[in-house]
Amino acid sequence: MTTAQVRRAYASVAALYIEMFGTSEQVHPDDLAFIRRHLGGRPGPVLDLGCGPGHLTDHLRSAGADAIGVDVVPEFVTHARATHPGGRYVLGSMERLAVADRRAVGILAWGSVIHLPPDDLDAVLAEFRRVTTPGATAVFGIFVGDEVAAFDHKVLTAYRWPVSEFSERLARAGFTEVERLHRPGDAGRRPHAAVAAVRTTG
Ligand SMILES: C[S@@+](CC[C@H](N)C(=O)[O-])C[C@H]1O[C@@H](n2cnc3c(N)ncnc32)[C@H](O)[C@@H]1O
Repeated sequence: MTTAQVRRAYASVAALYIEMFGTSEQVHPDDLAFIRRHLGGRPGPVLDLGCGPGHLTDHLRSAGADAIGVDVVPEFVTHARATHPGGRYVLGSMERLAVADRRAVGILAWGSVIHLPPDDLDAVLAEFRRVTTPGATAVFGIFVGDEVAAFDHKVLTAYRWPVSEFSERLARAGFTEVERLHRPGDAGRRPHAAVAAVRTTG
């Protein structure tokens, strides 16, 4: 899956996505608390990678983080800037960030690495490691299943992961899991997990 494909797919549904998912009130309170607990109040930049409408970037800012939203979809960046004028939102890809080595103290990748084919995940995690300082925390929101498998996400193909396997990938990339929050699916929602991991030294 290329960045251009992601951009095209999300651009075509941006208005609907914003309406359905674009505020913090539409996010589960336990998820908001998890994100705040791991990424709030840190001195230094926190990157919200694949920020979409920008509501979680704004949530991080309200939790005292110097949060910057990054997304490949111009419609999302324009919306985020207009809706959260105090915030910083930039157009860019998480695959190649315009960020110096060891700069960020945190990363949020909420529902945004889900579209990466499993073979492409390690390179993106290596980029996350490059831009983070030792001790930084990365928080992920992922879909969960018994095995790594593609599924028909409403916007474009996405992948579900056993949390333990996702966590192993994090460990291989130099991030040690410190907490996970697993929510079983129900009629309206797929099984989901929040995973927080700390960047190792070195
Ligand atoms: C399911 S949405 C999640 C958006 C937001 N984090 C949220 O929780 O509502 C996935 C987002 O990831 C973005 N995305 C996917 N691949 C990306 C990449 N390589 N670089 C930056 N953003 C990307 C998409 O444009 C989209 O905004």
